[in-house]
Amino acid sequence: MSKMKKYDDDPNTTGHEWDGIEEFDNPMPRWWLWVFYATIVWAIGYSIAYPAWPGISSATAGVLGWSTRANVAADIQAAEDKLAPINAKLEAAELTSIATDAELGPYAVSAGDAVFKTWCAQCHGSGAAGAVGYPNLLDNAWLWGGDVENIYLTIKHGIRNEEDDDARYSEMPAFGDLLEKEEIDQVVNFVMSLSGEAIDTAQVAAGAVVYEDNCSVCHMEDGTGDREQGAPNLADAIWLYGGDYETIKETVTYSRYGVMPAWSERLSEAQVRAVSAYVHQLGGGE
Ligand code: HEC
Ligand code: HEC
Repeated sequence: MSKMKKYDDDPNTTGHEWDGIEEFDNPMPRWWLWVFYATIVWAIGYSIAYPAWPGISSATAGVLGWSTRANVAADIQAAEDKLAPINAKLEAAELTSIATDAELGPYAVSAGDAVFKTWCAQCHGSGAAGAVGYPNLLDNAWLWGGDVENIYLTIKHGIRNEEDDDARYSEMPAFGDLLEKEEIDQVVNFVMSLSGEAIDTAQVAAGAVVYEDNCSVCHMEDGTGDREQGAPNLADAIWLYGGDYETIKETVTYSRYGVMPAWSERLSEAQVRAVSAYVHQLGGGE
């Protein structure tokens, strides 16, 4: 029941008055007050039971010891414990038998997919189609080898990095210092002719000689490349850096030095194996 008084018969006011305007002194409704007191009691109890008052580096812990961080850690641990047996199996399996194993195959691909999206997509693209300087992992053109063992070694140790002594390594010389300008023009035309794209056919014959003397040790006589040295196939019209005249000229003049980190320190053995299996089944696996 409201205790509000009519102004006319009993002006229950606070006595404050401004320019003839007076302030009523009506009590808060009972129900509202009780709810208000209840929230205070609740808040005191809550701040004793749960983390509440902020300190400099952390908050009061609360007597229940509840912590979102600990919960997440426990959840992660529980998930890892659940996967521990299958991860152990994955680590023990022959690399080549993972794909055909009814249990490990699907597991490795879905775990590898998650690893790829987290650690590899920045460079190779979320669909693994690559970008300039970052190879497409969907096709069957491989720099270092496309069977699962080679893919595994590439991922585990990386390429031309300084952190892993077993990293894949090779270095194409910068021919700007070694060849005359016209020889570079010639050899670029020859390289383009390998995939049928030479723009100045008059230079191709001379370019073949330059190529034979300077490039065939790594890229092979027929231009099909050498996986031992990570030397790309120059005859397949698939380009890591680009197949137009200017880009090839830039590659030959200054060379390239594609670096991939080693993953053995960052990822578990099971994760490296899973992502190897994942990459292998993307389409280009051998
Ligand atoms: C920082 C960029 C970067 C990241 C991240 C990265 N890569 Fe690479 N990756 C490269 C580069 C650059 C090359 C090519 C190096 C070269 O020129 O030989 C490469 C090459 C490869 C190759 C060899 C392809 C071939 O044709 O032989 C594989 C396989 C590969 N990466 C898989 C992965 C996987 C799996 C991951 C995630 C665990 C990953 N990469 C993360 C940069 C990266
Ligand atoms: C010592 C070995 C070696 C020699 C010699 C060499 N290359 Fe290379 N070449 C490589 C390697 C390794 C790469 C890949 C570099 C990278 O990924 O960072 C490469 C990359 C290239 C590319 C880029 C291909 C692409 O897909 O974008 C071209 C073009 C090329 N070389 C042409 C030549 C020509 C022309 C010569 C001779 C004048 C030559 N190379 C000599 C090892 C060599």
